[in-house]
Amino acid sequence: MKIDFFGIAKQNQLIKKNLKKKFDKLFKHNQYILGPEIQALEKKLAKFTGSKYCITTSSGTDALLLSLISLGITVGDEVIVPNLSYIASAEVIKRVGAKPIFIDVKRTDFNINEELIKKKISKKTKAIIAVSLFGQTPDFRKINLIAKKYKIYVIEDAAQSFAAKNHGKMSCNLSDIGCTSFFPTKVLGCYGDGGAIFTNKKKIYEKCKKLRVHGQSKKYVYDLEGLNAKLDTIQAIVLLEKLKILNKEIKLRGKNFIKYKKFLKNIKHIELPEVQKNNSSVFSIFTIIAKKRDMLFNFLKKKNIPVAIYYPRTLNKQKIFSKIKKNECPVSEELSKKIISLPFSAYITEKEMKKIANEITNFYSS
Ligand SMILES: Cc1ncc(COP(=O)(O)O)c(C=O)c1O
Repeated sequence: MKIDFFGIAKQNQLIKKNLKKKFDKLFKHNQYILGPEIQALEKKLAKFTGSKYCITTSSGTDALLLSLISLGITVGDEVIVPNLSYIASAEVIKRVGAKPIFIDVKRTDFNINEELIKKKISKKTKAIIAVSLFGQTPDFRKINLIAKKYKIYVIEDAAQSFAAKNHGKMSCNLSDIGCTSFFPTKVLGCYGDGGAIFTNKKKIYEKCKKLRVHGQSKKYVYDLEGLNAKLDTIQAIVLLEKLKILNKEIKLRGKNFIKYKKFLKNIKHIELPEVQKNNSSVFSIFTIIAKKRDMLFNFLKKKNIPVAIYYPRTLNKQKIFSKIKKNECPVSEELSKKIISLPFSAYITEKEMKKIANEITNFYSS
């Protein structure tokens, strides 16, 4: 059997029966847009993260975009963002007319280097988008302190870290705004696109809620320039079902992470991920640093082991940012050439992990 990179097929088998019953309910009330399940989900998600407010959205990208719009970030402003992330983290900054300022990441956790932020803050800086990559967060205590000093906002891009913790606090509730994604492969994923915004600030909540529906304050009355960025009711149903098994899955992920590391630890040419002090990781993507990365990638593919590279090109090298002066970001440059992500999920088996470890060993000994 082919190894499932994110374990989605096995998860589907567990929830399929219940889901069908829930879909039957939907076909009775027929409220496909902003149905009762959306409110129920928002309440549960807010409680899960300890946030006062949650607004579900059409995607993680739209969650970030609405957040920036709600803070009034626009042409002439600058927003700090790590140089190693998915395009959405920086694309939204450009989309509102502002300028992304790319900062290097740390080799230890692949997240923004908190020590480099201060130097890049200017009069134009309005916010920091700190990404919690691969399942664990950067140090939000440090980031929030800097932001407070310079009176700028902090947005957590928690697309890959839903349910992770930093200093005992839940990801999505670590800063002014937390944005997550429910893309199918995420730790909490739906069956299409989806996302959510979290905040404890009433003003931000009210603004984002309006912006999600074209800036509407009352039916056919529009106060703000908004978007159509709502989550579908059908996706809320999927997420409510998956939320029921999430804590169990997080525990399984933790156990599998320890086993995986045991199987991989004696391979000389790779470096394994480490959970940082004061963090708990959800290990959304199991990423290692590997010598001869591209050759290893091709070798594992040939052996029928699915692998991925998140991300082979740093953000500042993307064409859409070609006009932005490039800061030196040696660590993200190096990582983009050396990192490779291996199959990992709550449902990966010991046999599969051993097979992967054996094939990597075979590659380096050939
Ligand atoms: C770090 C990061 N930010 C933002 C996003 C965007 O989320 P979505 O695909 O739901 O728009 C993703 C999704 O892959 C992501 O990994």
